[in-house]
Amino acid sequence: MTGFFITFEGGEGSGKTTQIARLAASLRARGLKVTTTREPGGTPGADALRHVILSGAAKALGPDMEAILFAAARADHVDTVIRPALEGGQIVLCDRFHDSTRVYQGLGGSETALIEVLEAATIGELYPDVTILLDIDAETGLARAAERRGTAVADRFEGEDITLHADRRRAFLSIAAAEPERFIVVDATRSADEIAREIRFIVEDRLESRRLETAGRGTAASVAAGPSPL
Ligand code: TYD
Repeated sequence: MTGFFITFEGGEGSGKTTQIARLAASLRARGLKVTTTREPGGTPGADALRHVILSGAAKALGPDMEAILFAAARADHVDTVIRPALEGGQIVLCDRFHDSTRVYQGLGGSETALIEVLEAATIGELYPDVTILLDIDAETGLARAAERRGTAVADRFEGEDITLHADRRRAFLSIAAAEPERFIVVDATRSADEIAREIRFIVEDRLESRRLETAGRGTAASVAAGPSPL
């Protein structure tokens, strides 16, 4: 796999969408090929599942079934969008991925063993190269999400109790602490400009490390691996 896979995670109102757009624009301005996508969704099949899940229609089926639906959407998304883009040497920026299932469905009552099995079945070896966690306290995040939503109704997960949102924040931070190589935790309470600058700096540094690593492995291996974004 020659591309570079970056996922964005965080609670409601953490600004992932804005930051993904900003990072994509700055990478494209450098001539790099970038695919942006999101979960649940990213393909027609996954978008249909997105509607079923976020409308709350699947809630009555219980947390395990919801986890399975997220996994079905993810499998389609990985197979038809993410893996082909990475194989084509692109940088993929994805709004939420498997860490959201660990946090949301994990706290929602799904067994860790089920989540692990689903993770293996849907993403296999395709773990993100970098995961950017936009960390924000539940109160500020929910206020921002409400402002963005305007008069629209909160979705199945947004509308839950604030203590659950605070638990989700802690769960994200604990996954990040367990995988410090993959995670970059960013303080998302600052201005969008400051956050975008920090993310750009970090990502450029990681891309440069990857470029040096690939160059060190020799040209024959790089040619065999296919096109690279770097
Ligand atoms: P979305 O409208 O994309 O919101 P956000 O801007 O917060 O990403 O809604 C996605 C919701 O689905 C969000 O509340 C988190 C939840 N979710 C899960 O519960 N499990 C998952 O695996 C994923 C990808 C999302």
